[in-house]
Amino acid sequence: MNKEQLQKLRENYSKHSLDESDVNYDPIIQFESWMKEAMNAEVPEPNAMTLSTVDANNKPHSRVVLLKGIEEGDFVFYTNWQSEKGSEIEQNPNTALCFLWLELERQVRIEGIAEKLSQEESEEYFKKRPYKSQIGALASNQSSVVPNREFLEKRFEELEEKYTEGDVPKPESWGGYRVKPEVLEFWQGRRSRLHDRIKYEKVGNKWDIKRLSP
Ligand SMILES: Cc1cc2nc3c(=O)[nH]c(=O)nc-3n(C[C@H](O)[C@H](O)[C@H](O)COP(=O)(O)O)c2cc1C
Repeated sequence: MNKEQLQKLRENYSKHSLDESDVNYDPIIQFESWMKEAMNAEVPEPNAMTLSTVDANNKPHSRVVLLKGIEEGDFVFYTNWQSEKGSEIEQNPNTALCFLWLELERQVRIEGIAEKLSQEESEEYFKKRPYKSQIGALASNQSSVVPNREFLEKRFEELEEKYTEGDVPKPESWGGYRVKPEVLEFWQGRRSRLHDRIKYEKVGNKWDIKRLSP
């Protein structure tokens, strides 16, 4: 791979446009309408979002998680509270989420404060997960170092023998977070790099809407 190969990659975006006059005054309604369009366009894993958190030394870390709900305007995902991301959120709840829907030439950025869901709320979703995903969650002490692949597979098999379908307990440390959005930005790719960017910022209990230069 040489830099010329990378520098030659160039897309001219032309599929859609986004104007202050077409967006909903409520960014959550706007988000839901873009999410529906991403689903209808069969974007692979449209609910995949990059989650960024910051550690105790102010170093950022990003990874992909899946959006599993929008509840009262908050963005919900599930994970292990004792994972690296979990301990980062514990000491600094500022998070950023980023969706990329390339098929629609769209990006959505969200910034907000993460809060843990309760054990009960987490349990409710855990019960809906497929059996093998429940066993997988139980087998994995997320973000900890393991000696090898076999270690994980052996643990998975032991747990499969121990628990039958319907009675897998939710691990204490497995659960959800809700991200309460304070800033959202909808980005629509346009011709010649003159992209549309509409930014919502929460001011009191209203949303302030601005257009940003691309
Ligand atoms: C498409 C995709 C979806 C993922 N969904 C989740 C998820 O919903 N929850 C989760 O904890 N990890 C998910 N992961 C794995 C995370 O990216 C990450 O590897 C893991 O959560 C550990 O991160 P951490 O060590 O920074 O805490 C997903 C990865 C990919 C590529």
